[in-house]
Amino acid sequence: MDTSPSVESLDTIVSLAKRRGFIFPSSEIYGGLASCYDYGPLGVEVKRNVKEAWWRSMVMSRDDVVGLDASIIMHPRVWEASGHLAGFTDPLVECGVCGSRYREDHIDASAPPMCPKNKKKPCELGEARNFNLMFQTNLGPVIDASNTVYLRPETAQGIFVNFPNVVDSSRVKMPFGIAQQGKSFRNEITTRHFTFRTCEFEQMEMEFFCRPEEMLEWYEYWKTTRLQWFIDLGVNPDRLRLRPHDDDELAHYSSACADVEYLFPFGWSELEGIACRGDYDLKKHAEYSGKQLMWRDQTTNETFVPYVVEPALGTDRTVLVFLTDAYCEEEVDGNPRTVLKFHPKIAPTKVAVFPLLRKNGHPEKAKEIYDGLKEHYSCTYDDSGNIGRRYRRQDEAGTPYCVTVDHDTMDDNTVTLRDRDTLEQRRVPLGSLREELVKVLGF
Ligand code: GAP
Repeated sequence: MDTSPSVESLDTIVSLAKRRGFIFPSSEIYGGLASCYDYGPLGVEVKRNVKEAWWRSMVMSRDDVVGLDASIIMHPRVWEASGHLAGFTDPLVECGVCGSRYREDHIDASAPPMCPKNKKKPCELGEARNFNLMFQTNLGPVIDASNTVYLRPETAQGIFVNFPNVVDSSRVKMPFGIAQQGKSFRNEITTRHFTFRTCEFEQMEMEFFCRPEEMLEWYEYWKTTRLQWFIDLGVNPDRLRLRPHDDDELAHYSSACADVEYLFPFGWSELEGIACRGDYDLKKHAEYSGKQLMWRDQTTNETFVPYVVEPALGTDRTVLVFLTDAYCEEEVDGNPRTVLKFHPKIAPTKVAVFPLLRKNGHPEKAKEIYDGLKEHYSCTYDDSGNIGRRYRRQDEAGTPYCVTVDHDTMDDNTVTLRDRDTLEQRRVPLGSLREELVKVLGF
């Protein structure tokens, strides 16, 4: 059993991500902006693939979940009702000497942070005070309290307030879920570990509405289903675990919660939360809006407020897990190679096509193959450097298959198909290349 992280230090992933165009620091030419990141050409593909895989599994392949795309800025009363304005806080402590601020529960009491002003001494931290994580702005040209609005700290509330709209406009039957992907914002006191904790991030959340007496059954179902999703997409199961929350960890709305945790280079940490939210949110919004947020059974006329099970994860954190878990350093024929062993569905590029030479008809043939494959897959064409170097480049980008046009192609219409993980190279007739790729990629 492998219970060590895929890589010793997250710095290795940060530097590969920058070098190969997965993730860049934001506004880098101006010195960067703390906790903000941009996805480069390869990273944006991985992120799109993650979102697509989640949407396919949570919405498209199911009969009991529908989608939604709610606005980021919502009526401020939403946040009063949800409890975020009063209670979405973290304990903030400040050093009386240097002014550095920390999240109290992120500090190791036995090794407090050292004070940059008072060298060799730890920070002199004062009493903790509650700091609200909501980003505040104003809607319209005048800045005053009457038009204060907030950037949503979770996508979930957009789902709760649209509960009656979805019920009235679609043919959902109890139990059913509403799923959403989108940006959320939290003014985190301490951001750290690359894209693990940032102030602007994307979430993928689903609220599953069910009969109160069925909530615990669905809670078990969603815990298993969500853990399996990561495993099916190639994440090492030994680096995944489900950890139930202790009572004192539970959020104000939740009666039970378990985290899917991943073994990052900095230790086991939350990747996804699966929470029993009960009827907390629908009841609060009914109270604050004065609208009835109930389910009416059409056959029995029975009405009740549904209970909710919520699987909620961060898209950026998920991308970080796929990137970190795929990372591998190996030795091939006495030479080191770095390879990202992405699942084909997550890999940013599925196939790379190379002409062995830049003459003898190789480029024309390779271009023709590339143009044909582009119709089906995200592909790349590379004719620079020697063939070994081109393979290494694709290994580092996580491309599962490379197709090479060589001398034999011109004679017998076959190409070399090279497998990223096994390094096996075999000849495949051009006529069956697509069929072969469907077999090995799975699509
Ligand atoms: N609606 C429930 C909710 O938002 P949460 O545990 O606060 O629950 C869900 O957030 C997920 O969103 C987390 O498991 C994590 O993956 C992601 N997430 C939360 N805060 C984040 C942050 N500051 N940066 C990146 N991802 C974050």
